[in-house]
Amino acid sequence: MSDRRQLALNLFIYPGGHHEAAWRYKGYPADRILDVSFYQELTQRAETHKFDAIFFADGPALADNVRYAQRFRFEPITWLAAIAAVTKRIGLIATASTTYTEPYNLARLFASLDHLSQGRAGWNIVTTSTPQAAQNFGLPEHPPHHERYERAREYLDVITKLWDSWEDDALVNDPVSGVFADTSKIHAIDHVSKQLRVRGPLNISRSPQGRPVYVQAGSSDDGRSFAARFAEAIFTAHQTLDSAQEFYADIKRQAGSFGRSPDQIKILPGISPFIGSTQAEADRLQEEFNDLIQPEYSLTQLRQMIGLDLSGFDLDAPFPRHLIDAGSARGVASRFKLVVDIVDREKPTIRQLVQRLAGARGHWVIAGTPGRIADNIQTWFENGAADGFNVMPPWLPGGFDIFAEEVVPILRKRGLFRNDYTGKMLREHYGLNRPASVFSHAPQAIA
Ligand SMILES: Cc1cc2nc3c(=O)[nH]c(=O)nc-3n(C[C@H](O)[C@H](O)[C@H](O)COP(=O)(O)O)c2cc1C
Repeated sequence: MSDRRQLALNLFIYPGGHHEAAWRYKGYPADRILDVSFYQELTQRAETHKFDAIFFADGPALADNVRYAQRFRFEPITWLAAIAAVTKRIGLIATASTTYTEPYNLARLFASLDHLSQGRAGWNIVTTSTPQAAQNFGLPEHPPHHERYERAREYLDVITKLWDSWEDDALVNDPVSGVFADTSKIHAIDHVSKQLRVRGPLNISRSPQGRPVYVQAGSSDDGRSFAARFAEAIFTAHQTLDSAQEFYADIKRQAGSFGRSPDQIKILPGISPFIGSTQAEADRLQEEFNDLIQPEYSLTQLRQMIGLDLSGFDLDAPFPRHLIDAGSARGVASRFKLVVDIVDREKPTIRQLVQRLAGARGHWVIAGTPGRIADNIQTWFENGAADGFNVMPPWLPGGFDIFAEEVVPILRKRGLFRNDYTGKMLREHYGLNRPASVFSHAPQAIA
């Protein structure tokens, strides 16, 4: 184990890749996107390259622009269970919503994934930014941003107690004495709060990691304070070193105010690299993808981010900055700010803006040689902007293989990334402590 601080690297899997036109690119395996073995093989390769984890995003609704882009979703925990069966070390992070799930069900799902993967589960905690989800759950409309975070705080309180409701040594499993479980170490949680009422205990013993790794991806004020209070890993989108440094410093400072140690929080911005043997080749590759985008799709993406419908506008005209109304930041508050910052900083045409966002929905897109990509990663890592990265290949599997075979060896040679796993669990890969059960000193138990 190197004593030197090292990068955490996740592979963020989006079926065809993160560029919105990836599925139209010649290297794209159209016939395999519904074949779980495609994702099993990809994850096995990420494990071979010693990545910390793979990550699946999710939203309980069909995006309204599926005509032009493959926006389908397997349910992520089911998907990861199939991948857990053919892997040994790599972490398995799934998104699940605190707005559109119930804590008891979700506690069972993640505890099961952590058990069957021998301690590799992570939960990307989202409040769901897609308004369409509300109608799938009998709600007249999507709850407002602040209310979603209010429920999320209650939810974390409940589900943490459920994962802790069996103390680590509650499972006895002794046929001779006839005692299966020490019920003095299994606790009802009797939780009552504004939106949630749960008695517990959970109906499965405490999982290898105690709890899945808490991951979160909010960047608004609510999102940041939630992250600083609960998250152990934070996914975030930044276009520039400055904005990443500001976010990093703010989160670590806020975490301190919750009495948390900054090294127990890993901040992982997204990076989507176009790699070529020369800069020109890398730029050409990115252009090739951008030439495949379909404005019908890109403009709906843009509308979701900034609430402005630009269909019918001349794409090569300057972006109509005066039409942006700050009040329309309904869905993704932080993504709204990110797009407006690009407009103000770069004064793009509409086409240039949608091409900017086509790469990875507002995450950092960079084109260059392997050396240039490694240099930029090292700069963010060594200058208070990141503890690692969510690698978002523009297309799969090719975009990942090039990164793993060309950039990772450079990072390794510089001592910035592990040569081999030293632990078995996701918490060990990230250098995170294993939380004790909140009940481990509690008097009352179920019997
Ligand atoms: C890397 C990353 C992954 C995300 N994955 C999801 C996801 O799977 N599902 C989802 O509803 N939102 C996802 N989001 C959006 C966030 O959960 C959040 O809604 C968004 O960052 C806005 O932050 P805010 O909630 O603080 O306004 C993701 C964001 C980032 C940066």
